Amino acid sequence: MSRRLVLVALLFTALYLSSNADGYPCSSTEGLPLVRNISELTQNSYGRPGLSHMTVAGSLLHGMKEVEVWLQTFASGSHTPIHRHSCEEVFVVLKGSGTLYLASNSHSKYPGNPQEFPIFSNSTFHIPVNDAHQIWNTNKEEDLQFLVIVTRPPVKVFIYDDWHMPHTAAKLKFPYYWDEECYLIPPTKDEL
Ligand SMILES: *[C@@H]1O[C@H](CO)[C@@H](O)[C@H](O)[C@H]1NC(C)=O
Ligand SMILES: *[C@@H]1O[C@H](CO)[C@@H](O)[C@H](O)[C@H]1NC(C)=O
Repeated sequence: MSRRLVLVALLFTALYLSSNADGYPCSSTEGLPLVRNISELTQNSYGRPGLSHMTVAGSLLHGMKEVEVWLQTFASGSHTPIHRHSCEEVFVVLKGSGTLYLASNSHSKYPGNPQEFPIFSNSTFHIPVNDAHQIWNTNKEEDLQFLVIVTRPPVKVFIYDDWHMPHTAAKLKFPYYWDEECYLIPPTKDEL
C-alpha cells in the first residue's frame, strides 16, 4: 500500500471512531427536512419474511429521547415474535386486520396461553408494560399495516420461543433488528 493510501485509511478510521464516540453514529436530523414524505422513507424487512419496517421517528436514527414511531406492514400469515419489553407501546391499525395475542402474566413464571383479540383497520390498542404479546396478520387477503409508538427507545425486546417459556429464559434481542446498524454500545440489563 502506498503511503498516501495508508494516510487516507487512517483519516477515515479516525473519522469513523470520532463519529461513533457517543454510540449513536446514525443519530442526526441534520440535513433532513423537518417535514418528511413517508412514501419516500427507507423501508426494510431486516431479514424477516413478510415484514416491511420503517422507523418514522427514531432514537438512534433521529435522536428521539422519549418516544419512537414505526410504520410496519405484515404480509398475510406473517407475525411478530412472542415478545415483551419494559416500555409502553401503542398501535394504530391503518389497514387490514389480524390477531393480537396477549398474555398478561408477567408475575407468573411464564406467559401461558394468551388471550386473543381481533384487530382491524382504524382500531387502536396498547400493550401493558412487560406483557408478552404477538401480532399476526391472520387475514389471507390483505396486508396488515399499523403505526407503532414505543417509549424509552431504543427498544429492548425479550423473545420467547413459545408461550410456556419462562420469563427468565426469554432472550434479549438488543439492539433490535432495525437498531443494529446504529448501535455500538453494550446494553444495560433491564429484565423482569
Ligand atoms: C410523497 O412521495 C410520493 C412517492 O414518491 C409522491 O407520489 C407524492 O407526490 C409525495 N407527496 C408530496 C406532497 O410531495
Ligand atoms: C377512523 O375513525 C375516524 C373517527 O371516526 C374517522 O374519522 C376516520 O375516517 C376513520 N378512518 C378510516 C380509515 O376508517
